[in-house]
Amino acid sequence: MNFWQQLPEPFFVLAPMDDVTDVVFRQLVAEIAPPDVFVTEFVSVDGLQSAGRESTMERLRIAPGQPNNLIVQIWGNDPELYYKTAQDVAQMGFAGIDINLGCPERGIVARGCCAGLIGNNEKVAEILAAVRAGAPNLPLSVKTRLGIREMVTEEWTTFLLGQDLAALTIHGRTAREMSKVPAHWDEIAKVVKLKNELAPQTVIIGNGDITSRAHGLALAAQTGVDGLMIGRGIFHDPFIFDASDTLRDPDAMLAVLMRHLELYEQWGSSKSFQTLKKFFKIYVNSWPGAAELRTELMEATTTDEVRRIIQETYTHPTPPIAAPIPG
Ligand SMILES: Cc1cc2nc3c(=O)[nH]c(=O)nc-3n(C[C@H](O)[C@H](O)[C@H](O)COP(=O)(O)O)c2cc1C
Repeated sequence: MNFWQQLPEPFFVLAPMDDVTDVVFRQLVAEIAPPDVFVTEFVSVDGLQSAGRESTMERLRIAPGQPNNLIVQIWGNDPELYYKTAQDVAQMGFAGIDINLGCPERGIVARGCCAGLIGNNEKVAEILAAVRAGAPNLPLSVKTRLGIREMVTEEWTTFLLGQDLAALTIHGRTAREMSKVPAHWDEIAKVVKLKNELAPQTVIIGNGDITSRAHGLALAAQTGVDGLMIGRGIFHDPFIFDASDTLRDPDAMLAVLMRHLELYEQWGSSKSFQTLKKFFKIYVNSWPGAAELRTELMEATTTDEVRRIIQETYTHPTPPIAAPIPG
């Protein structure tokens, strides 16, 4: 049984999100309301195999005590670089390797990477073989969309399901659709049917527009997917993976923000303080006075300033957890 086959049914995954799901945010989510699986931000095989690999290496950091449930996601176009990268990451403690065949960013697609590889079966088969050769002991998965310009669900996923993948995540939109139309969960249901016929061993993960745990469970019941992946939903509820009813009151949210600042400092990220600000909206949201407080926080220029503003506003934020994750 590989990693994916041992998960609960259905299981939840925090979607890879560039500049969001870094080691800091992943550790935070692991502490407050963890999903069953985490994925790194996408990691360029070109970047990792270049002389300036240090900044890319930051994406591969693993929180101490993180259970063995972190998948590394890689992208690129050159099978040789995939091979070397797979060899490198095989030693780092990841639970599996995922290949990004879904990012719709124009420049990336134009270079024949990510969603630009949809339909390029020959190259994709070469890439998968290279990753398997470099990391034979890690389960291999793919995250993809339904097509580049047109929906080619059946043709594309029939090919992928012939590749003996451990898992296949379907973001239910074409690259052209970006995130502008509702995800086509009816197409995801078609992929489940194909998988049952062609590759029952491959775990199918549905992705797109899931707004809560309950919503995810309903979609799993409706479509038969094995797992649910949630991305932007976490921007509206950092406790989205929590099966109980954790109180999302201002004190709890501000305690989470304080913990985020602490982890950011502990990890010594090369990302600037400014990059933290997009998280303020997640935590300081939808309660009376939240908008005013957020405006004030947006003007802060240091973590200490943020702490001062919060302490002046709320005197006793209660941490949602007492201690960092064990180990
Ligand atoms: C800010 C941001 C960054 C993203 N970065 C990645 C990435 O690195 N790798 C990837 O496979 N998908 C990436 N995605 C796509 C998400 O993983 C997910 O497929 C998409 O947001 C749809 O799911 P959602 O509706 O639950 O957000 C990103 C999405 C966002 C919003």
